[in-house]
Amino acid sequence: MQIHCTEKELKILKIIAAAADKLGVSCYLIGGFVRDKLIGRETKDADIVCMGDGIELAHKVAASFHPKPAVAYFKTFGTAQIKLDDFEVEFVGARKESYRQDSRKPEVEPGTIEDDQNRRDFTINAMAISLNASDFGKLIDPFHGREAIQAQIIQTPLPPLQTFSDDPLRMMRAIRFAAQLNFTIVPETLEAITDNAHRIRIVSQERITDELNKIMLSEKPSIGWDLLFRTGLLQIIFPQMVDLYGAEYVDGKGHKDNFYHTLQVVDNISEHTNDLWLRWAALLHDIGKPATKKFEEGHGWTFHGHEVVGARMVPKIFGRLKLPLNEKMKLVQKLVLLHLRPISLTKENITDSAVRRLLFDAGEDIDHLMMLCSADITSKNPNKVKRYLRNFEIVRERLLEVEEKDKIRNWQPPISGEMIMAKFGLKPSKPVGIIKDAIREAILDGVIPNEFEAAYAFMLQKASELNLVAVE
Ligand code: CTP
Repeated sequence: MQIHCTEKELKILKIIAAAADKLGVSCYLIGGFVRDKLIGRETKDADIVCMGDGIELAHKVAASFHPKPAVAYFKTFGTAQIKLDDFEVEFVGARKESYRQDSRKPEVEPGTIEDDQNRRDFTINAMAISLNASDFGKLIDPFHGREAIQAQIIQTPLPPLQTFSDDPLRMMRAIRFAAQLNFTIVPETLEAITDNAHRIRIVSQERITDELNKIMLSEKPSIGWDLLFRTGLLQIIFPQMVDLYGAEYVDGKGHKDNFYHTLQVVDNISEHTNDLWLRWAALLHDIGKPATKKFEEGHGWTFHGHEVVGARMVPKIFGRLKLPLNEKMKLVQKLVLLHLRPISLTKENITDSAVRRLLFDAGEDIDHLMMLCSADITSKNPNKVKRYLRNFEIVRERLLEVEEKDKIRNWQPPISGEMIMAKFGLKPSKPVGIIKDAIREAILDGVIPNEFEAAYAFMLQKASELNLVAVE
């Protein structure tokens, strides 16, 4: 079997083979490494299955390296890992699962390579390559995984019901591989996912979200999200997304389907960035639309305030999906909140103060915001698209111009809260905020210049309106 390994990989594999031969156990490369080599994708780790004790083999292999790498092992699972620079190798003994009549819990016992291949998730993941000297490089492919790669299909080796009941996360994995590889899930397997979608409830949120993030990082994430929707998995794991689906009609007037619009926006932004969080921002940018949808006589469909409602939903969604509640969430929230602002700038005569305000609110994320807004253009009318893009160019030019002049990006007003408190002998309190906000607003609106002297005079004026007396 000809697969293309790097010199380093080949050296490691030969050492593993020699160690296995010394122990007198057969051993095989299996799973993702074989699949990715055959497809021609990058590989960073390898799974080795042996007809014996995986932990013992790992120790034998480690002893062949100088310096000797650490062996991390888990006795209960019979697995062991060695890290060789950036290449990780995992060892496990071949296993067979048997189901006793009186228990749904599988009993795992030593098995043959065929037994081990039977219990794997998809035919493309069930191929093994022998490493023993007697048949080094021989492909063992009882389920025709190689043909599945050629035909670009995802299919379970056993009847799908059995494969999915062993581990319902595999339903998400099927969809994730379909998205990553742009493969088709065969109808029987797809049907089994649809029929068993409810079983995803027993899988931990962390494992589900790992798969969602992998879908999100694939070249065209819409493939995965659409499959999640069509199989009914999305309804269970992320119902707010499903609420975006469909178009309602009143008096023959409909609105666009916000679900497919959203997927298009995610694909669009993915052409420009691999950043997971910008892709999540695209996915969530219209999430507030279902809650704000109204049909207004004479106007048609409106979604007033959907960006505010959407931004409020972001922490809840991140919490439920167990995505990190840190500055990444804040970035997503900010982009959702501001996603209409650049568009609104194209609709009016753009004043300096409107541009300054956007620069101030977006801060260092202004380029990300512009990227999201460009991705949000999904009209099928090429003239409209051209017009929007031209308008965005004008906004971009104005942003550069005003930023050059006023340096608002990452700007802080010249008078801080501490200065106000010291001047008037105040503790942190409402009047401090009122004065601080008033100074900021006056500068952004161009009422006063962005200079210390002017801001100081403005502070005194505001303070006297509030009957405050200076103590310094
Ligand atoms: N596997 C499985 N069922 C699962 C998870 C994994 O049968 N629920 C098997 C598959 O044979 C898979 C192998 O274990 O190829 C290794 O799993 P993992 O490392 O999770 O995935 P990879 O296939 O290597 O792919 P990736 O690294 O992209 O996640």
